[in-house]
Parts: sequence; structure tokens; C-alpha cells
Amino acid sequence: MDEKQAITSIFNLVASKYDNPSLRFFPACADKMMEHINIKPGNQVLDIATGTGVVAMAAAQCLGNKGQVDAIDLSENMLQSAQSKLQDAGFENVKFQVMDAENLEFDSDSFDVITCSYGLFFIPDMSAALKSWLRVLKPGGKLIFSSFAPSAFQPLSDIFIKNLAEYDVIPPTPRWLKLAEEDLCKQILLDNGFVNPQVIKSQLGYNLDEFSHWWEAVQSAGYRGLYEQLPEEHRAKFKENHQREIDKLKTSDGIWMDVQTLFSTAIKPK
Ligand SMILES: C[S@@+](CC[C@H](N)C(=O)[O-])C[C@H]1O[C@@H](n2cnc3c(N)ncnc32)[C@H](O)[C@@H]1O
Repeated sequence: MDEKQAITSIFNLVASKYDNPSLRFFPACADKMMEHINIKPGNQVLDIATGTGVVAMAAAQCLGNKGQVDAIDLSENMLQSAQSKLQDAGFENVKFQVMDAENLEFDSDSFDVITCSYGLFFIPDMSAALKSWLRVLKPGGKLIFSSFAPSAFQPLSDIFIKNLAEYDVIPPTPRWLKLAEEDLCKQILLDNGFVNPQVIKSQLGYNLDEFSHWWEAVQSAGYRGLYEQLPEEHRAKFKENHQREIDKLKTSDGIWMDVQTLFSTAIKPK
């Protein structure tokens, strides 16, 4: 299985659990994106790596009934979940489709705004993707993407990784570190033809009431792939050990989950 297939199968696996309160930073990120990017009625918007569509639907709300949101993802199950939420929300101007963010199949100069929430770092060739995104943006059009800062999910994720290592599961360096610093985000945008890159940081973290909510977060997003590498006979013991360590972090407010996020914006030159 290549890297993209592996990512797609993890998101297919977690799709039905993805929209849950333990992961409420995803809708919070969508709201922040809308604050940072000025979507106007009539705009053509492309939401890349849309997942269950939280950003696409926030954008549709900004558009009213004028303009269109195209939203793409590789995971059919994530898109199915997005599609059923769309029916409940009643928006008629959002179109979800399976497409690879590295090879967009839209005409050049099609979109006023491109959004991508926590998706770019999953793409093996981020530069190829950004060149493809630049092509489909209209001159003067704007890109916004979000990525995690190095402190995101710490110390919870370090404990998770240390506990996995006790069972000889050694994760690769987290993908998101490729876009975890302001200068990395600005440089990759400049290197691929965008201008006026800007980065704003926001803390989207919160307290989880108890271990089960952290566990829900682990089981419902990218960490699920690492957990799945544990042989089944070790999983119960792993969880028990992990809970013991995570519970030590609990205060009267709960268990803090840091979600320090970078919002990077840039323009396609006119
Ligand atoms: C962490 S989720 C974020 C989903 C959504 N943007 C949000 O903020 O809730 C990352 C998404 O990127 C998608 N993805 C990863 N690689 C992709 C690619 N090459 N093309 C399109 N989508 C991709 C995954 O399927 C997954 O739905």
C-alpha cells in the first residue's frame, strides 16, 4: 500500500466517528478560517481535503445562496459523512467529490478562495500540490491553510508514542511537523509561486473531561493508524498503561489538549 492509500484507508476507517466533541477543534478551526479569509457572496471556493466538510459548510454559510463551494477529498467515507450533513444543513451550492489534492482536475483560474484545514501536510509532494492549487486559483485569489504547531497535542501525544514504543511500534516523525513553523509555511508558499504569505497562530485547545475523551480523539483521527499497528493481543494492556499515564495529567479542569494552530494565507499574483 502506498502512502496515499494508507492515509485514505485510515480516514475511511475513522469517518463515522470523526465528528465528535473530543475533536471539536476541527469546527473551531473552520470558524477561525472564516474570520481570517474574507469570503464574499458570489465567490467560487475550493475546500481541499474537506474531510467531513466542516470548512466547506462554513464557507457555504458565508456565500449565502450566491457562489459555489467545491470540496474534495480522497476518502469516500469522509465525503459520505459530509454529504449527509449537507443534506441536513440544506445548502444547495456545495459539491463534494473524490479527487487527489496533488492533481486537481479543475480548470485554471477557477477559484477566488482555496481553503485547506489540516490537510496539506498529509500530501506526499506538498510542492506539487501547491503548484496545482496556484493554477486553479484566479489571479489575485487567496489561499488559507491550517497546520499544527509543535506543541499541539503535547504532552499527550509524546506519552502515546512512548507507550507505543514499549510494544515496538515506532511511529515516523509526525507529518505535520513539515508545516509546524511560521518560516516553513511562508517559504513553501513563496517557493511555489504565491506572494504575500502571512501566518497567524491561534490556540484552539481545550480541557477534556476524562481519559475516555482523549481515547476517543486517538481512535477517531490520524492516531488510529498507529494504534492499529499494535497486535490485537496487546491492545487492552496498552490502553491500561496509557490511561495510567494520561490520568496523571488530570487537574480539576480536566486534561488539557493543546491544539496550537498556524493559519497561513497567501495570494496568487495578478
Ligand atoms: C485531518 S483531516 C482534515 C479534514 C477537514 N479539512 C477538517 O479540518 O475537518 C485530513 C483530510 O485530508 C484528506 N487527504 C489526505 N491526503 C489527501 C489528498 N492527497 N487529496 C485529498 N484529500 C486528502 C484525508 O482523507 C482527510 O479527510
